[in-house]
Amino acid sequence: MQRIVVLNPKGGSGKTTIAINLTSHFALKGERTVLIDHDPQGSAARWVKNRQQTQPPIHLIAAFERDARVTRSFQLRIPEGTDRVIVDTPAAIHAHEMPELTRAADKILVPVLPSDIDIHACSRCIQDLLLVAKVRREDNRLGIIANRVRRNTLIYQSLSRFLSSLDIPIVATLRDSQAYVRAAAQSLGLAEMKPYQAAEDIAQWQPLLEWLEMPPRRVGGAGAIVPAMSLA
Ligand SMILES: Nc1ncnc2c1ncn2[C@@H]1O[C@H](COP(=O)(O)OP(=O)(O)O)[C@@H](O)[C@H]1O
Ligand SMILES: [Mg+2]
Repeated sequence: MQRIVVLNPKGGSGKTTIAINLTSHFALKGERTVLIDHDPQGSAARWVKNRQQTQPPIHLIAAFERDARVTRSFQLRIPEGTDRVIVDTPAAIHAHEMPELTRAADKILVPVLPSDIDIHACSRCIQDLLLVAKVRREDNRLGIIANRVRRNTLIYQSLSRFLSSLDIPIVATLRDSQAYVRAAAQSLGLAEMKPYQAAEDIAQWQPLLEWLEMPPRRVGGAGAIVPAMSLA
């Protein structure tokens, strides 16, 4: 079972969008997929609840709901035989919450928008992940998703340089596209849309999907992993 945590304390960076699209992708492949929503706004949970019976099934854990009738661990239990767990997290989480959110994570995805404010917030978030949550770069668990990007802009280049200096890979670069908005409104993921509606966007997920399949990098440099795209 693989657990993927999508995290960035900055609101609106694309956490929920990425979490629901990953969930839809794996569910469509026939994997037993669990989506855990920690955000009290419950957007990911609503997305699951509005899905049709005929769509690939997704097991929802609405972790933001506190249910006094059951223990917390019962509420958060993962069904046996689960293949993937995707965790959507709220905005404004504090550094001290990061160790618990990331401890069991096989992969941690940090979506970031190419703006000065977002890059600044992202650098803070990465610092907290490295120093407080003790995520080690060499474990190949941490990947950045540059979201809503226009590639040849100065701000994108500045984001690339910044991440390159930290030796953290950009594992996907996603353009700004209405396909995400349309899919979410129908409780679908891109992968469930008609190809002509989303083919170009789906193609941009390929490096991310490949990175997710990469095993942790062995300490000592053997089998070092090249970032999914050039940061130059
Ligand atoms: N690549 C994208 N293209 C267009 N709209 C996007 C994209 N990524 C996110 N959005 C939109 O931006 C808004 C915020 O995204 P969301 O995933 O809810 O962020 P977060 O969960 O980090 O707060 C949503 O309305 C979402 O549909
Ligand atoms: Mg969200």
